[in-house]
Amino acid sequence: MCGIVGYIGNKSVNSVLIVGLIRLEYRGYDSAGIAVIDNGELEVRKEKGKIKNLENLLKIQPVEGNIGIGHTRWATHGEPSKLNAHPHIDCNQKIAICHNGIIENHLHIRTELIKKGHLFRTETDTEAIVHLLEQEMKRKNTKLLKDVIPSVIEQIEGKYAIVILSEYEPDKIYFMKDGSPLLYGKNTEESYLASDIVAIVPQAKEYYVFKDKEWGWITKKEIYVFNRNNEPVTIELEKVKLQAIHLDKGNYEHYMLKEIYEQPDIFRKIIEARTGEKGKVRFDEMKLSNDILGRITRILITSAGTSWHAGLVGKLYLEQFARVATEVDLSSEFRYRNPIAEGDTLVIAISQSGETADTLAGIHEAKARFCKVLSFVNRTESTIARESDAYIDLMAGPEIGVASTKAYTSELIHLLYFALYLSGIKWLTPREEREEIFNEIRKLPAKMEYILNKADQIKEWAKRFKDSKDFIFLGRQYNHPTALEGALKLKEISYIHASGYAGGEFKHGPIALIDETVPVVCIAPKTSVYEKMVSNIQEVKARKGKILAIVTEGDDQIPEIADYVFEIPYVPDYLTPILTVIPLQLLAYYTALERNCEPDQPRNLAKSVTVE
Ligand code: F6R
Repeated sequence: MCGIVGYIGNKSVNSVLIVGLIRLEYRGYDSAGIAVIDNGELEVRKEKGKIKNLENLLKIQPVEGNIGIGHTRWATHGEPSKLNAHPHIDCNQKIAICHNGIIENHLHIRTELIKKGHLFRTETDTEAIVHLLEQEMKRKNTKLLKDVIPSVIEQIEGKYAIVILSEYEPDKIYFMKDGSPLLYGKNTEESYLASDIVAIVPQAKEYYVFKDKEWGWITKKEIYVFNRNNEPVTIELEKVKLQAIHLDKGNYEHYMLKEIYEQPDIFRKIIEARTGEKGKVRFDEMKLSNDILGRITRILITSAGTSWHAGLVGKLYLEQFARVATEVDLSSEFRYRNPIAEGDTLVIAISQSGETADTLAGIHEAKARFCKVLSFVNRTESTIARESDAYIDLMAGPEIGVASTKAYTSELIHLLYFALYLSGIKWLTPREEREEIFNEIRKLPAKMEYILNKADQIKEWAKRFKDSKDFIFLGRQYNHPTALEGALKLKEISYIHASGYAGGEFKHGPIALIDETVPVVCIAPKTSVYEKMVSNIQEVKARKGKILAIVTEGDDQIPEIADYVFEIPYVPDYLTPILTVIPLQLLAYYTALERNCEPDQPRNLAKSVTVE
């Protein structure tokens, strides 16, 4: 949450910062600002709301320069406002900082600095740091930030990625990082700092991801990095592989729609990469030996939101195919519950962004208990990938729409592949059976396209039910998580209250909600629990609920009862959640449009939840 960017080079800094901030807008979009050295003086511009508001301000109050820092905010301390927007400045207006994270002891620092005469202008935790830098400079009688950053690091508690611009040193941008992501990007004669590599492609050709407690500064051509003991660090740069084309909306109106429609091609790529010879799954990047995996007796999955729903499906795959007892925890609960996890427990962390703070904390918890950690991540340069013992690349490509879509189906298929991989190690699923499953998986992209070609049917559902106050989603077994995911998608982007339930639980309370105004989305493909779902649908019908059913083609029972029916092609039980979720993604998207909501940037949310 919050995106930061810094630039030094020969280009006009405004445009570089604005492009970077637009790319980082998924991390927060309640206010934005930049600080630039313009003719030797520090200039700050900030505005409430999205980056386009800041762009408009810069037209009226332009700044010029070749060095600057920028920030797009998701408020933690202090309401979203122009005043609380970053960058924040010291009393003398010579130093500006942008921060992503939370400073836990900011109140204590603030109180002490106010006693020393510092003038605080905002309610943010970040402002404490810039005044602390100023105070330390005064105490040490220096104008150089390198003389004071180590003692500031000693005094602050919490998580941060910080970039600092100082009028006293107009050819450098300083940085410090602990717990929140920050990386360096390099091109000939220009240097960048950013929360995420998406902010600096295609310009940056090489990059380095900072480690916790590293700090230092960049100049146009150089970087200087120091570790927690203030010793110089030699960094190794990696080539930037991401291309700008992956970050464009193409011909789509929104990233979310583009990402929904990308799913068949992503699956083609995944299938090609993961299908090995003789019924074997290929995980070339996964550095956990068969010896270690063969000894695993228990699996704990930790993840959040949509990735937690993927974990719930993953549990079914791992128990069904690999016969390993599996528990699934919300990361925010796992980290505080004193879990029973020992050496032979494998902890799986699932995270699209690879930066979710709670999931990262779960990994630390697991490692403290000597468990091996395998993460499923869509960003292989992320903190979660680097802090795990091994990772599996979800291969979905950058996901920019705040509501996760393509990453979810990529998580599901990779969890299935991993369950098959484990079952191969344990000699549980015979080669012929695995090859049969591979054959079924190969048919998925075409089946996904078939569903996407019928999006108009879902548009009709959205039109008809856009004014509903509540939506209910019902599913069983493999599609219970689909019900949870369908409800989450709808509520997060259309702001309609929605809940997902296991069909069997419905009679234990939630059925009381049903009347003729409530649409109930029943996910009822032909699986082993089909008849049970039919009974649930009858119960809803008897109470006059409106039934919107997702069924398998050729179903002749449910269309007789339901008000609306959407057919998906036949797939075996275990593949149904990969298809049934697609009409629900479309339902959320089109309902948001019908209600004039902005699907890519829903209110109050940010894509990457890097604070607790
Ligand atoms: C919902 C959504 C969130 C994320 C959750 C975890 O559409 O995107 O619920 O799934 O914040 O994020 P990751 O997977 O990045 O750890």
